[in-house]
Amino acid sequence: MDKIRNFSIIAHIDHGKSTLADRFLERGGLVVKGEQILDSMELERDRGITIRAHPVSLDIEVDGVKYLFNLIDTPGHVDFSYEVSRSLKACEGAILLVDATQGVEAQTIANTYLALENDLVIIPVINKIDVKDADIEGTSKEIVDILGFKEDEILKISAKTGEGVDNLIKAILERIPAPHGDPNAPLKALVFDSHFDTYKGVVVYVRIKDGTIKKGDKIKFMSNGKEFEVEEVGIFRLKMEPEDVLSAGSVGYFTALIRDPLDVQIGDTVTHANNPTKEPIPGFRKNVPMVFAGIFPLNTNEFEELKKSLEKLHLNDPAFTFEPESSEALGFGFRCGFSGLLHMEITIERLRIEFGQDIIATVPNVEYEIVLRDGRTITIDNPAKFPDPSNILEIREPIVDASIMIPPDYIGNVMELITSRRAVYKEMLYPEEKRVIIRFEVPLQEIITDFFDTLKSVTRGYGTLDYEFIGFKKADIVKVDILINKKPIDALSFMAHEEKAYYVARSMLEKMRKVIPRQMFEISLQAAIGSKIIAKERIVPYRKDVLAKCYGGDVTRKRKLLEKQKEGKKKMKMVGNVEIPQEAFFSILSVK
Ligand code: GTP
Repeated sequence: MDKIRNFSIIAHIDHGKSTLADRFLERGGLVVKGEQILDSMELERDRGITIRAHPVSLDIEVDGVKYLFNLIDTPGHVDFSYEVSRSLKACEGAILLVDATQGVEAQTIANTYLALENDLVIIPVINKIDVKDADIEGTSKEIVDILGFKEDEILKISAKTGEGVDNLIKAILERIPAPHGDPNAPLKALVFDSHFDTYKGVVVYVRIKDGTIKKGDKIKFMSNGKEFEVEEVGIFRLKMEPEDVLSAGSVGYFTALIRDPLDVQIGDTVTHANNPTKEPIPGFRKNVPMVFAGIFPLNTNEFEELKKSLEKLHLNDPAFTFEPESSEALGFGFRCGFSGLLHMEITIERLRIEFGQDIIATVPNVEYEIVLRDGRTITIDNPAKFPDPSNILEIREPIVDASIMIPPDYIGNVMELITSRRAVYKEMLYPEEKRVIIRFEVPLQEIITDFFDTLKSVTRGYGTLDYEFIGFKKADIVKVDILINKKPIDALSFMAHEEKAYYVARSMLEKMRKVIPRQMFEISLQAAIGSKIIAKERIVPYRKDVLAKCYGGDVTRKRKLLEKQKEGKKKMKMVGNVEIPQEAFFSILSVK
């Protein structure tokens, strides 16, 4: 066990985590020059964001002695702090990587706090020292001033050229403690991730704290009491490699023909069924979804398939929740919960790309607490469940404590942005000359739509955002219904602050007017709060005859046009007596 080191690399996005991981893989003999192996999912490469944490075990030789380094990759974005936290629990130490050209960013601070909460030994490392305009001294000062490390603790490397990486490996050996635990005690293993394998069932990623696990063992998940017989245990190299046994200190996986993804919960403790450990490992920070949206299959008969995909996704990503819902306009689908907007975007993309699902997602909203006149307090995450306003005493919305870090030049722009979002300014901190932290409280609803994109554009990409939920606060929230030919379209209803409802409704109707094709009758579009109409539009009738363009002559052209029209028809959704093309729904629902 004294030859094992379990650690993560934590960093802000693009500070070089994957590049450094590549250097470790090379040192461990898993050579992958030029390719970023840990970011293996196609999507991750596209987005340049590490979404899933997957470990890799490396044989690293130092001064003729062989060590086993278990490197657990962690995601770097604000939406994924739960995933960072759960993989940190499997480690004794963390490398905190800071880009010398960017300095300490909001996420660097957030990640450092997470690592400290998990009692990890942190090695601060400045990366990209090979870059010409790298500000090594400034970055070092920030690490000392903002994060509180000592200057002589900081290592300097280039993950790209490999400079300094040997020193880092030595520091890992010296500073990060080897795991401790009792291999003879009853099994106590922490579930920190999982994925689904069609043949093997759920592959459970574990960190063994005490005891051993091997093929044939009868194991039990302590949270739900479910028992299984272990089929295979092993460690991760580039692929999964079976081993005879995993014992205290190890990081690896087991399979046990677990068919139901929902049986395996991240943060759970695995023990032996007939010789259980007394206490489970203290719980992971429970992640509560904060952003909700409906997801519906485009073809109603793909509901079951979508359900299966969602179950698999949930297994890889427990921060994501789902439950069935039905909509008059969109049919049967699911109400899904996400930790943030980026998490939602990525999940939807994964459903489309990885799982090949044709889906439609409704406008995201937060969860509201509603105090009813009869004294009950309910929480709702779906406009469809909004109670009759006459029964409502008070509505409360989630508030977050947010901080934006920027160079001072952008203070004006950022103040303007947050003021337009119902934010309450708190304070401005100057951790050093070139950086300002603006702290404010803001309703979560205000930052889940286009806030991050706007922030990036008004700060030329420099601004970083971090936020934390602090509680619910009373607010004037209304439900807005959208009606087509007087018929409310449930999938288009939304909840908003009274002051913003009119504006959002207007832009939604305008967009609808542009994207819904004229039909043979007039279409009226209305937005209403209760029975009060707050905005309206109309689409004048029009007879669409594609063949009129053909002047009778060319038959093949005619046929092509007809076929094209038929294709178009297939992608229509009927809403009452109005045909709405799929495209239109997409753009209506993407209204910010
Ligand atoms: P996420 O997975 O999105 O969090 O990013 P990451 O932290 O894994 O960053 P990644 O390793 O993808 O590096 C981001 C960019 O910085 C890439 O273009 C790298 O080639 C580059 N980079 C990383 N380390 C160095 C370095 O030491 N020197 C130089 N010059 N470039 C580097």
